[in-house]
Amino acid sequence: MAPNYDYGMMIGMLIVIFLASFVTADPELLQDVCVADLASDVKLNGFSCKTNISADDFFFAGLTKPGLTNNTFGATVTPASVQQITGLNTLGVSMACIDYAPGGLNPPHTHPRATEIVFVLEGELDVGFITTENKLFSKTIKTGEIFTFPRGLIHFQINNGKVPAAVIAGFNSQFPGTQRVANALFASSPTVEDVVLTKAFQVGTKLVEKVKSRLAPKK
Ligand SMILES: *[C@@H]1O[C@H](CO)[C@@H](O)[C@H](O)[C@H]1NC(C)=O
Ligand SMILES: *[C@@H]1O[C@H](CO)[C@@H](O)[C@H](O)[C@H]1NC(C)=O
Repeated sequence: MAPNYDYGMMIGMLIVIFLASFVTADPELLQDVCVADLASDVKLNGFSCKTNISADDFFFAGLTKPGLTNNTFGATVTPASVQQITGLNTLGVSMACIDYAPGGLNPPHTHPRATEIVFVLEGELDVGFITTENKLFSKTIKTGEIFTFPRGLIHFQINNGKVPAAVIAGFNSQFPGTQRVANALFASSPTVEDVVLTKAFQVGTKLVEKVKSRLAPKK
């Protein structure tokens, strides 16, 4: 008897595998390791590989201590990406730790190259992301719980609790990139013309100038 292949199912699976190869954020690696040579002048998509590598290229102790949160927003992101762990080059993953004082805010931002998944180490946070249809998905998450911010979407976390909070974040990119919405629009260099912002936000020049001066990089 001829084997009874389900061609519809097989084609369906091939399509799923084909699509899955596009949903990974960073390209597939073509060798075991390619430790980033951050000092190299060779520019390519990622970083060129160092020849002389060791275990230390895959190691980072920068998250052993909480980050200081005595800044404007009361929150600090400590990245653990390819810039800190050169061994992450071509591996498609990275992490960060975020610490929040009571009232601390990680202001609305996007990661153009990665989905983010956070695990609450301590405290409680109100978190959310906004879709391209301007729908807000928000939730209160506490110690041990997880929330996900889809790639490229604007998101934030705020500590509305009375005690400090901290999360560990995972990213499916060696270098997720971070673009803060307010800083991108009001503190770029050179600055975005006032008329762009007054029209976009439907407010007067005075208010735009005020926000610009508040967000200007500290000298
Ligand atoms: C390779 O790295 C080790 C440890 O970082 C260093 O001691 C050694 O001199 C390096 N060798 C070369 C050829 O750069
Ligand atoms: C934050 O605290 C640290 C250590 O206490 C101090 O060195 C630093 O200057 C403070 N930063 C700000 C912006 O106050």
